[in-house]
Amino acid sequence: METQRFSNIKTEEETNRIARDFASRMKKGDIVLLEGNLGAGKTFFVREVAKYFAIDEVSSPTFAIVNEYDGNVKIYHFDFYRIKKERELYDIGIDEYLSDEEAITFIEWAELFPNAVPEYSYIVKILLLKNGLREITISKNDY
Ligand SMILES: Nc1ncnc2c1ncn2[C@@H]1O[C@H](COP(=O)(O)OP(=O)(O)O)[C@@H](O)[C@H]1O
Ligand SMILES: [Mg+2]
Repeated sequence: METQRFSNIKTEEETNRIARDFASRMKKGDIVLLEGNLGAGKTFFVREVAKYFAIDEVSSPTFAIVNEYDGNVKIYHFDFYRIKKERELYDIGIDEYLSDEEAITFIEWAELFPNAVPEYSYIVKILLLKNGLREITISKNDY
């Protein structure tokens, strides 16, 4: 597993640069899990990746479970935070979303229902430290 770590991130622009560089390396079919506490910047990161693909309207899917966006590529953006039962994910057809090889999928809080996400391409972990600095770790899953 190949890992990139960025430390001492002070500004949103630094996060955006990391997100754009990541976006430029992504390919259709990728599934990205985002880890990090509330307010760490998961949605912020997805928003910047989406901009790279000419999508300008990303908001948090916390209430919708999944948002779909159409740009230069299709993006599915999940947030499991308010899901109570794994069943809810199967009811909205998560397996079909995850097997769409034409789309890129982002999942916030995937760790709450790991069984619903058997495969993934990357984990992006964002840490917001007490001193206000952030650390982003991007791990690629090679399989
Ligand atoms: N360097 C940074 N990287 C990411 N977000 C930042 C940064 N600095 C400030 N922020 C702010 O932190 C907040 C992160 O919120 P959000 O992305 O919704 O978090 P999450 O989805 O992880 O709960 C945003 O309001 C964003 O503007
Ligand atoms: Mg969020």
